[in-house]
Amino acid sequence: MSGRRALVTGANRGIGLAIARGLAAKGCHVIVGARDSEAADKIARDLGAEAVELDVASNGSIKRAVGEIGHVDILVNNAGVLGSGHLLDDPEDFEQSMSVMVHGPYMLMHLLSPSMVRNRYGRIVNVSSGWGAFSDGVSGPAAYGVAKAALNALTVASARTLPENVKVNAMCPGWVRTRMGGAAATRSPEEGADTAIWLATLDQDGPTGGFFRDRKRIDW
Ligand SMILES: NC(=O)c1ccc[n+]([C@@H]2O[C@H](COP(=O)([O-])OP(=O)(O)OC[C@H]3O[C@@H](n4cnc5c(N)ncnc54)[C@H](OP(=O)(O)O)[C@@H]3O)[C@@H](O)[C@H]2O)c1
Repeated sequence: MSGRRALVTGANRGIGLAIARGLAAKGCHVIVGARDSEAADKIARDLGAEAVELDVASNGSIKRAVGEIGHVDILVNNAGVLGSGHLLDDPEDFEQSMSVMVHGPYMLMHLLSPSMVRNRYGRIVNVSSGWGAFSDGVSGPAAYGVAKAALNALTVASARTLPENVKVNAMCPGWVRTRMGGAAATRSPEEGADTAIWLATLDQDGPTGGFFRDRKRIDW
């Protein structure tokens, strides 16, 4: 993995930070993406990484960040938001959820995958959730489950259009002790990050177009 360039979105805290730390420990050149540039800088200094200001809900921010970063070998679409309440009551939450968890990942894949294809190497990890699984009733609150289901669909459909050496997979971290998961959650951020780090560093014979938890396939 040494020297692979890896962008992690929402890497300033929670699971994203644990993924960034884990990839740095594996020798990747990590790029800490965060909308708070001071937080990104501080974490990047701690990890010996690079920082980029990146708000995945903003096309302008995504384009600026990609212009700054250039090529990456690994993209981890981790940034997420969890609304509350009822799906059909809150159009603003719907728009925000789709921006952060579907449109942002799509734009990053759109802009960053061509150089992966040219280099014949790429690993894209979409941090999803069991709450976005049809097999589990798309059960997340507000727009969360719908956005994660769409992120899963983006994973399946883009894996079909990308060559086998550019792998794109989705994963569920389980219930993790972060600001989103809360203090009662059963897993540490490191445990939640493990499958994402594994998918980000897959060998060339590793899977693509799959959905994983604990390094095992789960149903969409
Ligand atoms: N925790 C769980 O139990 C659990 C379970 C299943 C799936 N997940 C998924 O795991 C991922 C990480 O969640 P977490 O538990 O670590 O949540 P978290 O602690 O709430 O962290 C969310 C991260 O996403 C970032 N973010 C939100 N909106 C953003 C935007 N517009 N642009 C860039 N970054 C943005 C946040 O940045 P700010 O600090 O700027 O807000 C923060 O870094 C999410 O995709 C989540 O859906 C979590």
